[in-house]
Amino acid sequence: MIVFDDSLKTGNQLIDDQHRELIDRVNKLEKACAAGGQKRTAIQTLDFLLDYVHVHFADEEELQTEYKYPQAAAHKAQHRAFEEAVSQLNEMLEEEEGPSEAFVEAVRKNVAQWLVDHICVWDKQLAQYIREA
Ligand SMILES: [Fe+2]
Repeated sequence: MIVFDDSLKTGNQLIDDQHRELIDRVNKLEKACAAGGQKRTAIQTLDFLLDYVHVHFADEEELQTEYKYPQAAAHKAQHRAFEEAVSQLNEMLEEEEGPSEAFVEAVRKNVAQWLVDHICVWDKQLAQYIREA
């Protein structure tokens, strides 16, 4: 479970508001996958998360284009890698009876922890660049 506190704030209102929603959906997924979670519920919450991931990444990438952000290509590559990791989780879930230990661990590592790390490094840099532009 991720707590959206000041340590995760980038200072950009739009990005922070979207991160709050995104984290909410990651937490819902983790909750849905907790011990004895239903496969159907897990798939639904994963889809629900992925929908918003696409919206959020598109908005962030639009900002990067608008501000001619020099790190845009590398930042976009990070986003694509994340989407790929989430797709793999989807496949993993489809093949299983329900969310397994390994799946829950992958959500924690490849989704929750990835997001926290991404926000703290990449998104904070982006927000700072926009602020100084
Ligand atoms: Fe980002």
